[in-house]
Amino acid sequence: MMNSAVITPSSQAKIGLDVEALRAQFPALQQNINGKPLVYLDNAATTQKPLAVIETVDQFYRHDNANIHRGVHTLSGRATDLYEAARERVRLSLNGGHTDEIVFVRGVTEAINLVASSFGQSLKAGDEIVISALEHHANIVPWHLLRERIGIVIKVIPVTPIGEIDLSTLPGLITARTRLIAVNHVSNALGTINPVQEICRIAREHDIPTLIDGAQGLPHGPVDVQAIGCDFYALSGHKAFGPSGIGALYARRPWLGKLPPYHGGGDMIETVSFETITYAPPPAKFEAGTPNIEGAIGLGAALTWLAELDHAALAAHEAALLAAATESLGAIPGLKIIGQARHKAPVVSFVLDGIHPHDVGTLLDAQGIAVRTGQHCAMPILQQLGVASGTVRASFCFYNTFDEVEALARAVHRAQTMLS
Ligand SMILES: Cc1ncc(COP(=O)(O)O)c(C=O)c1O
Repeated sequence: MMNSAVITPSSQAKIGLDVEALRAQFPALQQNINGKPLVYLDNAATTQKPLAVIETVDQFYRHDNANIHRGVHTLSGRATDLYEAARERVRLSLNGGHTDEIVFVRGVTEAINLVASSFGQSLKAGDEIVISALEHHANIVPWHLLRERIGIVIKVIPVTPIGEIDLSTLPGLITARTRLIAVNHVSNALGTINPVQEICRIAREHDIPTLIDGAQGLPHGPVDVQAIGCDFYALSGHKAFGPSGIGALYARRPWLGKLPPYHGGGDMIETVSFETITYAPPPAKFEAGTPNIEGAIGLGAALTWLAELDHAALAAHEAALLAAATESLGAIPGLKIIGQARHKAPVVSFVLDGIHPHDVGTLLDAQGIAVRTGQHCAMPILQQLGVASGTVRASFCFYNTFDEVEALARAVHRAQTMLS
């Protein structure tokens, strides 16, 4: 589970994490941008890829490329085996109970749309979905689509001024019409680590299923869906060192059997005539058409690579990076950190007095530093916190260094001086 303990930079040596050796596995980190060494601090948008992933995808195309589940020939058998092994790897990384609980999708956005569409077919006008004020648009818009289509009601768990979900309000939001509670594991905009286990416990007491948006969860520590106690957990491969356009939906076993398919097409049926149809058992029932085969295999490679690392050391290093960045940036006059939850992933969102975040981002890029600026697909929470025009977000990963934290603070200070 995620560890947000504050650890000082000097304890890095005790943990023995060799950040330089880790960085050497990421070719994209070894380059100059605008004449300066790249400082990549946009990890919440997407992570860089280790050689283990790049080489696995390359190997697949060079040696094993074929369509899956269809051919009797050797290559198709090999591709199918690799694809299904990746599914088992996802199960293992999430500690799911069964491999057939894992559906490959394009990412969290598609996973949530799948649930909204399939689970949504059982909903009626006036039924309620509870989300939080901290959600990414991927966990807001699919529920709007259902609201527009059938008239469901979206209820929102409020968030405190420091960016924490106000859990005490949840029981009061639950009614006899509540059909699902859907929240993110970690906020991409502020870094808040949400009490998902507790939310799922409260939901279970009321017999309400839960969906966790895990886009920002898996990259920062092992996830255990059984310990969390959720019904659905969504992840995106590209946020966890895997390829883009691949992700997974974990659905506790009873669900996939009873939910209707999301897409229709090849590979998801047992029999088809012009009069009748029977569907393949899950997860195939939800994977119509040729999937992102190399993406799934690359995701499997990313999760295998990740599983071999020392998670306590990674979490400690990320916590120390967060502490150092909070301190260095927080010391800049006129800089305000947005989101100061007690439990945070290594994300620092901030604004500078009187300066537009895009201008800061542009000047940081000129100094080789990649950050995200804007609303981070989370307009409602930024609006609530009074920063509707956005923030600058530095999101760290265990391959970042303390020198990079200092480079960021210096560059922000320089940008502030130039723009004031
Ligand atoms: C918390 C959160 N949820 C959902 C998403 C959507 O993920 P994807 O674009 O991979 O579908 C993101 C992406 O930034 C995110 O950070």
